[in-house]
Amino acid sequence: MGVISEKLPKIFYGGDYNPDQWPEEMWNEDMRLFKKAGANIVTLPVFSWAKLQPSEDTYHFEWLDKVLDLVAKNGMYVCLATPTAAQPAWMSLKYPEVLRTDEDGRKRTQGKRLNYCPNSSVYRKFSAGMAGKMAERYKDHPALAVWHISNEYVEGGYCYCDNCAKEFRMWLQKKYGSLEELNRVWNMSFWGHTVYSWEEVVVPSNLNGDNRCFQGMSLDYYRFMSDSLLECYRNEYDAIKVHTPHITITTNIWTVCKRLNLFDWAEHMDVAAWDNYPQMGEAFYNISLRHDVIRGLKKGEPFMLMEQTPSQQNWQDYNSLKRPGVMRLWSYQALAHGSDTVMFFQLRRSFGACEKYHGALIAHAGHENTRVFRECAELGAELNRLGDKILDSKCDSKVAIMMDFDNWNAVELSSGPSIALKYLPQIEKYYRALSTFNISVDIVRPDWDISKYNLVIAPVLYMIKPNVAGNIEQFVKNGGIFLTTFFSGIVNENDLVTLGGYPGQLRKVLGIWVEEIDALPPEMKNSIIVNNPIGKVDGEYECGMLCDLLHLEAARALAVYGKDFYAGMPVLTENILGKGRAYYVASDPEQRFVNDLLKYLCDSKGIKGPFEPTEGVEVTQRFKDNMIFTFVLNHNTYSVSVDLNGKEFRELLTGKNISNSLILEQKGVAILLELFV
Ligand code: GLA
Ligand code: ZN
Repeated sequence: MGVISEKLPKIFYGGDYNPDQWPEEMWNEDMRLFKKAGANIVTLPVFSWAKLQPSEDTYHFEWLDKVLDLVAKNGMYVCLATPTAAQPAWMSLKYPEVLRTDEDGRKRTQGKRLNYCPNSSVYRKFSAGMAGKMAERYKDHPALAVWHISNEYVEGGYCYCDNCAKEFRMWLQKKYGSLEELNRVWNMSFWGHTVYSWEEVVVPSNLNGDNRCFQGMSLDYYRFMSDSLLECYRNEYDAIKVHTPHITITTNIWTVCKRLNLFDWAEHMDVAAWDNYPQMGEAFYNISLRHDVIRGLKKGEPFMLMEQTPSQQNWQDYNSLKRPGVMRLWSYQALAHGSDTVMFFQLRRSFGACEKYHGALIAHAGHENTRVFRECAELGAELNRLGDKILDSKCDSKVAIMMDFDNWNAVELSSGPSIALKYLPQIEKYYRALSTFNISVDIVRPDWDISKYNLVIAPVLYMIKPNVAGNIEQFVKNGGIFLTTFFSGIVNENDLVTLGGYPGQLRKVLGIWVEEIDALPPEMKNSIIVNNPIGKVDGEYECGMLCDLLHLEAARALAVYGKDFYAGMPVLTENILGKGRAYYVASDPEQRFVNDLLKYLCDSKGIKGPFEPTEGVEVTQRFKDNMIFTFVLNHNTYSVSVDLNGKEFRELLTGKNISNSLILEQKGVAILLELFV
């Protein structure tokens, strides 16, 4: 797609600003401070619907005109947000149907944000109306660089109102055509739930407990809600696009969560964008994984880091400060994984309500003589010097991890075999191993073309949707390495078990069948015994949580269980199919096992990171034209020396040439430029 905005071909630097919370006299001072921090973009007016439209027929845009003009006059740009994440009080009062109903069936009153029913036609009409009005008014404004629709769509959870129930029935009718089919895909003969008319279909909520009982139904409700919220977004998108066809439109994804099908959403976002709020002490590779998921949504296109805090949050239990250097390090981490922006929530700290203790560029002290401001200004200056160099460069991976949002929901809706099983930690485990070796990973949807990869990993691919088994089989036959784990291949897209033995549709590619699945309580463990070493995979490892009791068909066992009545049964298998190989890890292993196994698999394909790994140091690469940008990030609290493999580089942040080894202070960052022909 090229750069995010032709008007601002730089790394966007700036963030959320709420001028409507402050007297106009302060705005000039704000501009001075933003510029001093090196900001080039300001996001607004994210929550100003009530101010822009104080009643059904009154609009007040004049104050916003002034802010936009002021931003332009100061040489900065605007990420123009529609304010539709929080409806004005008059709307809820006059049209109570816009209010959301929660999972306990309680109709909410006006308040907070993300508190509207996504299927309310009143909400849809007013939100598209506001978006269209803004687009018409500001389409030629010189400050307009990019559109930001609403805010973090799923923060408020789902709606369970009667109107949503009605729309859900229509959605089901369209999807399944007949009640017979609906009864079949939800297996409604279970506990006598067969329905004979569409009106008998109710939404799965805490009022009936069906949300934990009929997984097929719950999955459909999740899909329907993701679609409903997406329609709200598209409703505004269309209203804007007619006026500004060439300006990028996006929305800020809350985080990598299972409540929205982000792959579906990304198809309607011109650029993927998300908000990154790690806890203090969060493992750096888990942050990296989330960036990679966002990059994966649009198949590797650069994305936007739309929000992060300059220092602390307010909504966590313990809102620790980012230690000196961490904000800078995490900003570069986003760039290292494919972001083209570094943006904050918020530029000025509010003085009332729940975000008054949330970090900001400008603290309550009100001036620039603070640690946080200084760190932001130093980063701003540095990014300015970097200019457009890394802009629109791409990552390149030989390894992919499959991820699926329906699968995530299905795994965690499942009643049995273990409450300990969570989807994301399983992905994190495999990702972590690859991160340890500085091996770049793409996150892909299971039905996408995977032929460019050498190794594809699908942790807990419980749900096999149409075309997925064939996709994997083809990949392996053509020479790829595929790895999956316990609790894979069990159900179809409706959460109906594939009969005939697990892992169902993956049986052929894996060459095994699973007869039983044992669930171990946390204090109980089994072991993985490797008698004939494969690479570094050797000796004994711990495993637990789930243990499949499996039989070999075409596959061979590489390791066996060490304990219990199934001691000696296979726990790691390998199947040769065509030119490739498929591996099955039948239990939840300790991290060391995953590291050793992935090292072996990557070695066998010659996949390696740019440099030899150094503990706590992350290395990633972005490519553009004939340039390779190698990011080296020291997440440690001590300085390190990184061996550069005898190569020579230009370090872009200092402008110095470096060869042989790179010394990085604690939390330090380097961007090494290498030219190739
Ligand atoms: C989210 C929202 C922002 C703000 C921050 C606070 O990311 O999008 O409006 O509330 O959280 O961390
Ligand atoms: Zn509703």
